[in-house]
Amino acid sequence: SIIVLDFGSQYTQLIARRLREERIYCEIVPYFTKVEEITAKNPKGIILSGGPASVYDEDAYEVDKAIYDLGLPVMGICYGMQRIAVDFGGSVIRSDHHEYGKAELYINEEHGNVSPLFESCENGRIVWMSHSDRVDVLPEGFAPIAYSDNSPFAAIANEEKRVYAMQYHPEVQHSEEGYLMLRNFARKICGVTEKWDMGHFLKEQIAKIKEQVGEGKVLCGLSGGVDSSVVAALLYEAIGDQLIPVFVDNGLLRKGEREQVEEVFKVNLKVPLVVADASELFLERLAGVTDPETKRKTIGHTFIEVFEAEAKKHSGIKFLAQGTLYPDVIESVSVKGPSETIKSHHNVGGLPDWMDFELIEPLRELFKDEVRKLGRELGLPESMINRHPFPGPGLAIRIMGDVNKPDLNLLREADVILLDELKASGYYTRTWQAFAVLLNVKSVGVMGDNRTYDNTVCVRVVEAVDGMTATFAHLPHDLLERISRRIINEVDGINRVVYDISSKPPATIEWE
Ligand code: XMP
Repeated sequence: SIIVLDFGSQYTQLIARRLREERIYCEIVPYFTKVEEITAKNPKGIILSGGPASVYDEDAYEVDKAIYDLGLPVMGICYGMQRIAVDFGGSVIRSDHHEYGKAELYINEEHGNVSPLFESCENGRIVWMSHSDRVDVLPEGFAPIAYSDNSPFAAIANEEKRVYAMQYHPEVQHSEEGYLMLRNFARKICGVTEKWDMGHFLKEQIAKIKEQVGEGKVLCGLSGGVDSSVVAALLYEAIGDQLIPVFVDNGLLRKGEREQVEEVFKVNLKVPLVVADASELFLERLAGVTDPETKRKTIGHTFIEVFEAEAKKHSGIKFLAQGTLYPDVIESVSVKGPSETIKSHHNVGGLPDWMDFELIEPLRELFKDEVRKLGRELGLPESMINRHPFPGPGLAIRIMGDVNKPDLNLLREADVILLDELKASGYYTRTWQAFAVLLNVKSVGVMGDNRTYDNTVCVRVVEAVDGMTATFAHLPHDLLERISRRIINEVDGINRVVYDISSKPPATIEWE
């Protein structure tokens, strides 16, 4: 494997991700990890990540210098490069030209030799720079192996000692051949031959969870979405009945949703799901509530109450499992050490004090597409793997004004037609989210020879990468027409359908 020493760069996880894509196993550990701990992992090479600090800062992060004497190949990226330069006796200065963004990389061919780091790489390809310090004097035994317009030492190496360093970030998507350099480092220079995949990740996580949990019990809240389902399936593989997977039916779900979740858990995953049916309670609490924020708060509090009551039925719960993904982990994981756990605990939001469980977050190193791969590995059906996100407060924030049973049913019928048509036309998998909103606006219509005065439904379909920004989907007009016609014909009580053509920002995806 390859060990990545993390100096706190926002890109550290991307190094791991790129290596995983190349089917190379790697592990990220904090920069201060002792050399004995590193050798215990039996690595074939070490990568020093980037980081926000300067090597000349008073308390600049340092490595256990014994790593340089292991005879293993070492590669530094950005801060990692400067670390290597200084540790081997060179020097670093604050650069006059800060270099952020694209640069063209040119490979030095000394005596006709190209560094094995650049095997199969082309000249003039884009790499991504982001630094204000740069190497000034090369350490003894090092030579430049690539340069850019602003960086004579864009990459340096001591080929004999197999120590490499680069100023740019090969791990980011914008560095066109960065993945090749990471692959060359691992395969050609370190000699990693094993082909790693998600199946291995699964096995490792299972072993890790078993060790962490011991005889304790783990509570896991399920939303029916991909992330929490993958967590539950994974935990069940690892610890079986020590897992208590709780699905709260808040009565605000889409048509057939609870049944689908129950079916997947029973048939595909064979995980015994605890379903807490609290739909009546939620509806009682929501009666007469029209303000969006009050709705959200009411739902949040009620959820905790139900979840707590369910937890109290079991003794010996020590852990809470969550589907936190890497993008949710805002800051670097490992540099901060144990304090990180406290922070993500707040993400759970308002759990009572006695539920001060230890967190288990087996997906926190992964990106969404990797979670989907893991889900497939665990036997989740495609229907669940490709599901659109669905908000915790459910349909309540898609009914303008008061939430009640008849309106929920009306919305459910319109919503299921929309999803049906999107799936049939292939647009479901091409869009981020699609749903209907009940507007609480009545308008006049004519059906047959009769005047109608009925409800309006708004159809919202958006394209997004992460939900932070979004554009409305440019659906073909004939598809919109079919959706509108079916909703009006098939849902009694709706006589008008409108399409939301706002983007985010300034609108949000949800209406409340
Ligand atoms: P907005 O409406 O803020 O939504 O543009 C962005 C994304 O977040 C989802 N969303 C939620 N998800 N609990 C959730 O789990 C919530 O309270 C919540 N509110 C919004 C929304 O569906 C969209 O994907």
